[in-house]
Amino acid sequence: MNDSDERMDEEKLDQASLDQERLDQGSIDRRTFLGKSAVALAGGAVFATSALSYAKILGANDRISLCHIGIGSRGTELDWIVAQLKTGHNAEMTAVCDLWSVNREKAVAANTKYYGRSPRAFQYLEDALALKDVDAVLISTPEHSHSPILKMAVDAGKDAYVEKPMGNVLAEAKAARDATLQHNRIVQVGTQHRSEPYPRAAHDLVQTGVLGDVSKVEIVWNYHGPRWRGRPESKLIREQDTDWRKWLLTKPYRPFDPQVYCEFRLYKEFSSGIPDQWISHGIDLVHWFMNDSYPRSVVANGGIFAWHDGRENADTFQALLEYPKGFLVSYSTSFGNDSPGFTRYMGKKATLFNIGDEGSPRYQLIEEKGNHEDNSDIDKTRASKYILLPGETKLPPMAMDDLSLGHMGNWFDCMRSRQQPHCTVHDGFAHSVACMMSAEAYWTGRKQYWDTASETFGNQPPRSS
Ligand SMILES: NC(=O)c1ccc[n+]([C@@H]2O[C@H](COP(=O)([O-])OP(=O)(O)OC[C@H]3O[C@@H](n4cnc5c(N)ncnc54)[C@H](O)[C@@H]3O)[C@@H](O)[C@H]2O)c1
Repeated sequence: MNDSDERMDEEKLDQASLDQERLDQGSIDRRTFLGKSAVALAGGAVFATSALSYAKILGANDRISLCHIGIGSRGTELDWIVAQLKTGHNAEMTAVCDLWSVNREKAVAANTKYYGRSPRAFQYLEDALALKDVDAVLISTPEHSHSPILKMAVDAGKDAYVEKPMGNVLAEAKAARDATLQHNRIVQVGTQHRSEPYPRAAHDLVQTGVLGDVSKVEIVWNYHGPRWRGRPESKLIREQDTDWRKWLLTKPYRPFDPQVYCEFRLYKEFSSGIPDQWISHGIDLVHWFMNDSYPRSVVANGGIFAWHDGRENADTFQALLEYPKGFLVSYSTSFGNDSPGFTRYMGKKATLFNIGDEGSPRYQLIEEKGNHEDNSDIDKTRASKYILLPGETKLPPMAMDDLSLGHMGNWFDCMRSRQQPHCTVHDGFAHSVACMMSAEAYWTGRKQYWDTASETFGNQPPRSS
């Protein structure tokens, strides 16, 4: 028997043993089991390449069995990420769930390729969550359903990786957090930059106090174009291929609208747009770097100034968030001009300059001394250095795609160790609060105040402050 035959035999054994487990737990019926076993045996040669990784798997009992709920654009990326980690972390996507048949079928095809066998496919998450052999779920539905589905998942006893923001309705986000704590589940919220090496190095440097007192953080991330409008899926989707009422989930009924379904980021009932999509990433890093998680107050302004295409959410947005430790965060985005993005932490001893847009790994530390008023060339005399990882000599790029593996890997590690992951439900709740307060301040035109005692926000300062 050569290596490849051995691997194929292990693959068949793993397949049989996983299917037997599912059969034992009543999650598949005997007909499916027998049918699948026959396919596994007959299809051995076809599986040969994709089954290579199975040789390293220790045993079926240790494998993390995953189900993925909502596999559209981001979900496809997350499936790819999980597949890169399947061997090292002994994990498998054994089930997929999507309301829309087109995305469900794509997810089945992708995961069949990744694992050499078909995941079980469900339209409804209730059926997927009822699977006893599933340890954990990934949730990458639109943001209005993150918290409700997270709560359902942890109530069903699953660990979860949930996309950002963790929620955009305060009561729902709170309920999801509380249920996670009550059931002692390991939940990673999807702000993946927390697990990338350069932000981690920059974070560690900030913890040494090198910046001195930080009084201001500025984030500017721009883009030129009608962002989130014109997704090709909007032309493809038909109501009969999905379940619109289930998609709406907690929202009141409204007639099916393919643009709302696929371009939900532009519609205020489902997403706040720039806050939910981008502030969530930016402010999450600020909370982590600064060890301060809830804004004391937020003001915001903006509007639809660049793209009059029927969108409800602002294409130009700015929020100012004040934090209890005594610093102000300015967050600014324009979709009408692509001027270079940056984030800077402005301390009395130094500035931490993150050059580029969301996720950029290029960080520079610049000494703070003197004043421009006294010396217009002062910048030239300020010492600076780039943050490089040990052994690195080349500058990292100024942009980063969303495909880094660290965050998912950290979640897998934590599922086994039962330690807390890099972005906990507390962190996810906090970034969601900052996004919700920014959106509320914009829509109402009134400054929003956070009340720590009651965990609510409103336009009056809390009595305790
Ligand atoms: N971390 C990141 O860098 C990053 C990047 C992109 C998107 N995201 C997040 O991912 C989320 C999804 O964005 P997208 O562009 O992939 O959306 P999408 O519309 O492409 O995909 C969402 C999928 O969820 C399915 N779905 C919706 N409700 C469902 C339900 N109740 N049950 C089962 N399936 C359901 C839809 O049919 C669709 O296939 C957003 O909230 C966004 O914030 C995160």
